[in-house]
Amino acid sequence: MTEVAALILAAGKGKRMNSFIPKVLHAIWRKPILGHVISLANSLKISRLAIVTGYKSDLVESYLEREKIDATLLKQDKQLGTGNAVQCAENFFKNFKGNIIILYGDVPFIKQNTIQKMLKLLSDNVDFTVLGFKKSNPTGYGRLIIDSRGYLEKIIEEKSASDAQKKNQLCNSGVLCGKASTLFSLLSRITNNNTEKEYFLTDIFKLASDHGLKSVVLECEENEAKGINSRGELAEAEINFQNHLRRKAFNSGVTLIDPPTVYFSHDTVLEPDVIVHPNVVFGENVEIKTAVEIFSFSHLEGCKIFSGAKIGPFARIRPDSTVKESAKVGNFVEIKNSTLGVGAKANHLSYIGDAKIGDKSNVGAGTVFCNFDGLSKNVTKVGKNSFVGSNSSLIAPLSIGKNTIIGAGSVITTNIPDHALGLSRQKQKIISGVGARKLRRQKKN
Ligand code: UD1
Ligand code: CA
Repeated sequence: MTEVAALILAAGKGKRMNSFIPKVLHAIWRKPILGHVISLANSLKISRLAIVTGYKSDLVESYLEREKIDATLLKQDKQLGTGNAVQCAENFFKNFKGNIIILYGDVPFIKQNTIQKMLKLLSDNVDFTVLGFKKSNPTGYGRLIIDSRGYLEKIIEEKSASDAQKKNQLCNSGVLCGKASTLFSLLSRITNNNTEKEYFLTDIFKLASDHGLKSVVLECEENEAKGINSRGELAEAEINFQNHLRRKAFNSGVTLIDPPTVYFSHDTVLEPDVIVHPNVVFGENVEIKTAVEIFSFSHLEGCKIFSGAKIGPFARIRPDSTVKESAKVGNFVEIKNSTLGVGAKANHLSYIGDAKIGDKSNVGAGTVFCNFDGLSKNVTKVGKNSFVGSNSSLIAPLSIGKNTIIGAGSVITTNIPDHALGLSRQKQKIISGVGARKLRRQKKN
């Protein structure tokens, strides 16, 4: 088997995005465009992955570090074009004898299977495979020119194309594969003799056909190969792929009452018989077990919700939270880094941060888990079968036992043992006759 490596071009600024951050870091399904391309590369059997960075490379590097992505970063100091970007990898691939796949960091939805088909087309007789697609309005894309024998003769960039060539609807996706050494030897001969004064990677194909090398085109669907160059294209891609995730949810047995108003993340996991009401947003890393019902205007991220739980309306579940079987999180309740036990309830207007709440306990309306002392976060534990009265403040670190009651309106600062009542309020005063005096004064006026 020939060894295969991948190179991702991600050095460009993305002028058409009009943004302070590099285009490849803009997100679709809450994952940077570049992240999708890296996932594709990692799904292939490759021996090495390199990424060319340039514009604000520090931001790209910190993203890769954060996500613990194993790739070699190569720097392109000046963005002199896609051909020059690949040349920046020449040293890295010096002794590499295998095939190289070039992926563009702004073309995020190519399928693994498509690349495998491209690799299979390479043979003693075929030097390169280029991925093409047909588009009724091909403006902006390089056009693939096929010779009379069906091989790729050259690629003409939009800006250099004649009116007749512009009518050609067969576009270049940017994705190509072939023998690395052949690619680099062709690249050493391209020039920047064009209106953009850029080194176009696409110019290697004219050189290749002039030297008797053969390149073939594999065609795929437009949606798979479309690049993201502007905010409009970013939004269009988001809509297309949200629709794809919504269909995936139906197919796995999930009810979406108003599908276009539900937004998923690339990694949302929903089990059968989950019901999602209108206007619900899933951030990254959410797992919902069977028969959970999520009511409108809820926002969930980084959490695991177990069978039979009910969430919302208007619930906010933040990262590192677990809601166990049949528990309830009601309106205007925010949960962060906390666990709500089996059958536990927090039905109204509460903040639950850094807490562990036992099975069947009840958190009353307006309870605040005061987890932050201005310097650090602290944990509160509430045992099972406990009842926290409304409008209580639980000052962490704190441990409240099982079968306890916290009186409504209490500010609890010390631990409460099992089976006890914790209460901290001013004793109520009753002053007789004050109401009647007030009434008499009002009548006089
Ligand atoms: C490119 C292709 C075009 C193809 C289209 C598909 C060239 C010359 N043109 O055009 O044929 O139809 O993609 O989407 O290749 N980049 C660098 N360094 C640079 C320039 C670009 O790393 O100096 C990276 C960018 O970050 C981007 C990718 O290469 O990820 C493509 O660059 P872009 O400027 O978007 O090329 P297009 O004009 O879209
Ligand atoms: Ca592009």
